[in-house]
Amino acid sequence: MPALFDPFQLKDVTLRNRIAVPPMCQYSAEDGVINDWHRVHLAGIARGGAGLVIAEATAVSPEGRITPGCAGLWNDRQAEAFAPAVAAIKAAGAVPGIQIGHAGRKASANRPWEGDDHIPEGDPRGWQTIAPSAIPFGAGLSKVPRAMTLEDIARVRADFVAAARRARDVGFEWLELHFAHGYLGQSFFSVHSNQRDDAYGGSAENRGRFLVETLAAVREVWPEHLPLTARFGVIEYDGRDEETLAESIELTRRMKQEGLDMLSVSIGFSTPEANIPWGPAFLAPVAERVRKEAGLPVASAWGIDTPQLAQRVVEQQQLDLVMVGRAHLADPHWPYHAAKVLGVDRAAWTLPAPYAHWLERYKVA
Ligand SMILES: Cc1cc2nc3c(=O)[nH]c(=O)nc-3n(C[C@H](O)[C@H](O)[C@H](O)COP(=O)(O)O)c2cc1C
Repeated sequence: MPALFDPFQLKDVTLRNRIAVPPMCQYSAEDGVINDWHRVHLAGIARGGAGLVIAEATAVSPEGRITPGCAGLWNDRQAEAFAPAVAAIKAAGAVPGIQIGHAGRKASANRPWEGDDHIPEGDPRGWQTIAPSAIPFGAGLSKVPRAMTLEDIARVRADFVAAARRARDVGFEWLELHFAHGYLGQSFFSVHSNQRDDAYGGSAENRGRFLVETLAAVREVWPEHLPLTARFGVIEYDGRDEETLAESIELTRRMKQEGLDMLSVSIGFSTPEANIPWGPAFLAPVAERVRKEAGLPVASAWGIDTPQLAQRVVEQQQLDLVMVGRAHLADPHWPYHAAKVLGVDRAAWTLPAPYAHWLERYKVA
């Protein structure tokens, strides 16, 4: 029976345990260039003991940013800014990963703490969004995107490839394609956002084409010995869940054939009308189904924030990797505390020596 603190190997990469830090946007970059805030954030969390730390959704092109403060990887200056973060994550004993993506019709938004809605028309901070069809998301994100031409599709695919190359060259060892959460990849797959009548719309096979082709193109430049994963919303909670899930599992099988090594199972967020059953580890049974039916390792997040719950989903083989997000913001040493709670043997986890000496050898209580 696997346990939370067992190592996990995917391709030639071995994580020290099954705890992963999922990508979490900091909305604090300038011109897509990350800074000390991100570097300290990523290093601090890596020192807490997770096996994998995935840097935030990083845009493959300027119009692919969610907000003006989002990170980018469309030029070399942006890549170089990641180098110290990559080194710090590795020095802390974690594997450095990055999520690359394009926000599609949800781009050009204000930061969450500044409204989380679209930047108003005419405001110079905003830009024209693009998407499979000229259909807005709705609610606060009501800006109408421009429907992508075939040239746009080819260009964005090439942008993903160029960003993957930069991620590789700066030393990331784990790449996640952001095909979830209503952003561009997800919006090609979702019937809520894709009403195209060409090869990229209509049937599930056509709606999945952008994702499969992008993945295949990235696989050509991303080293074969390193994990290539995708985050994808397999379910929308919009009342047609069985159909979406079946289509999503089939799409996952297609991506696996093109070189996908693991799926990070998430939610579609393609419509503001969704009715999501929030609760502790509520997505784990869905992820388990994908794991079994698509036949590949899975990770997932959402409300798996206690050590016992994290241990349980691994032991029950629902998830291969547990993504612990907000709990890491609250406690960057979450894995250390989880190890204590679970009574895990000291050899199975690490704490940097300047901390370990005082907390483990020089205990006052
Ligand atoms: C501040 C913040 C930023 C996030 N940014 C991203 C992101 O860049 N990419 C992504 O796929 N999910 C993002 N998410 C979602 C998280 O990766 C994660 O799925 C979510 O927080 C649920 O996990 P949790 O319950 O452990 O926090 C973000 C969440 C938070 C709280």
